[in-house]
Amino acid sequence: MAELQQRLLSWYDESARDLPWRATTDPYAVWVSEVMLQQTRVDTVIPYYERFVRSFPTARALADADEDAVLSHWSGLGYYRRARMLHAGVREVVAQYDGVVPEDAEARRALPGIGRYTAGAIGSIAFGKPEPVVDGNVTRVLARLLRIDTPTGAAVTTKRLWEEAARLIPSERPGDFNQALMELGATVCTPRQPKCESCPLSEGCAAFAQGEVDALPVAKARKAPRELKLAAVVATSGRGADRKVWMNKGDKALFGGLWGVPMIEGTPRDALRAAGLRARLRTEPVGEIEHVLSHRRLCIDVYRATGANGVETHSHKAFSPDELDRVGVSRLMLKVLAVAF
Ligand code: ADE
Repeated sequence: MAELQQRLLSWYDESARDLPWRATTDPYAVWVSEVMLQQTRVDTVIPYYERFVRSFPTARALADADEDAVLSHWSGLGYYRRARMLHAGVREVVAQYDGVVPEDAEARRALPGIGRYTAGAIGSIAFGKPEPVVDGNVTRVLARLLRIDTPTGAAVTTKRLWEEAARLIPSERPGDFNQALMELGATVCTPRQPKCESCPLSEGCAAFAQGEVDALPVAKARKAPRELKLAAVVATSGRGADRKVWMNKGDKALFGGLWGVPMIEGTPRDALRAAGLRARLRTEPVGEIEHVLSHRRLCIDVYRATGANGVETHSHKAFSPDELDRVGVSRLMLKVLAVAF
């Protein structure tokens, strides 16, 4: 093994954090952890991961679960599409491969929700195959190490990063090597104030040699998130212990199909009408919430309505507080409910 790989792995052996998914090479568990880790910080993921694999210990157990149970385990993690895609992916593994995650890279890549990153993470960590991964942390490490100065997100940059990652990955301990790159990016080669003095790769780092560490990677120009003005209505029927909140299955694109109170770009009356509800609406909002999603900034006026009447269907239902605890509710909905009650 070449020196760079050796140095990185020795560093990893000394400083790797003791994370729950590192105690396993079960491809299903690795899959769950990597999907959770894609847009969420390690510290946040840990309890979610532990609870998830306890409730759904195998691909088959997850495939057999219903979507609401899966989403409730994801409640608060955000990017709920990830959970639905993971669910679809394991269902495919059960249908096509008798519940065994395929070792073959092409077969893995063909599964719903598995892209190049997830396939590479499972291949290297669970199956010990020299398959590369590139995520935000790896991008930063490689851009500095190799002085790649084209903007991140540009096609040429992405292509180059995957080629370099494939070139660097050793056939011995490829999973540890990939995790070491990510770990280095998360703990040493950080976006601000990187700790070059304790970096195992600083000697061969082109950006360090040129004094350009702070200038790399070059960020792609970002569009400002589009702002949406929304009205949300917390409509209840009953009072006291019998109080129920009317919810419907949310917009899949924005809220990944989770349950939420009626919310619409428009007036609170529009929101009630779209949800098929009649209710006594208070004319003044009870509060205002700002919520930032990846591409949208939501500005939400929260209204309160009582004495609500509606028809329950598969996508419209009045929930008691206990029932609410059992279904998936987004962080945003928790904020909306907190304002209303
Ligand atoms: N980020 C994505 N995958 C990771 C892993 N396996 N360990 C630490 N951070 C990660």
